[in-house]
Amino acid sequence: MQKVTLTEVFTHPIAQKYLKRSGMAHAISCTYHAYRLALKHGADPDLATKAALLHDIGHYEWYTDGEWDYEKYKQNDIHAIKGAERAHKLLVRLGEHPKAAKEIALAILLHTDSYLPEGTLNQNTLQKVVRLADEKDEEPEGLHHYRQISDELALKKIREIDRKISDLAINPLKKSV
Ligand SMILES: [Fe+2]
Repeated sequence: MQKVTLTEVFTHPIAQKYLKRSGMAHAISCTYHAYRLALKHGADPDLATKAALLHDIGHYEWYTDGEWDYEKYKQNDIHAIKGAERAHKLLVRLGEHPKAAKEIALAILLHTDSYLPEGTLNQNTLQKVVRLADEKDEEPEGLHHYRQISDELALKKIREIDRKISDLAINPLKKSV
């Protein structure tokens, strides 16, 4: 049973503000991928979909003279750290279980290693699922952040995923992929 639904997270004004900044369509696609990948790899779909939805909410707009400045972004970006913290605060505020909020925040923190010093990360299944979901939807030069989706369709898709997750809780063998 979900303590907090994906719809509650998605419709919160803080989530809306940051999802619009980093790309709503990308967030929704990743949430879908995360649902399927969680079933495939044996991760919790509730945690995986929340982490995937919120994985990029820590992005900041690195612009110079109105143009996206990739170099500045590369040098200064900490979106995974910021996103993990924002997501954790939002989830706790919505009443999420602290343990679940921590797991989701960690999956967001580790969804990319682009900001980390060289080395290999030892990721658990949930963290891998969120990274794979993000990679599945990536486009060259960060174009995935600019794809569009209407508010109505985004909400419809989020509700669909909520329904799939609650179906699973009722009948764990159904696995509606
Ligand atoms: Fe992403």
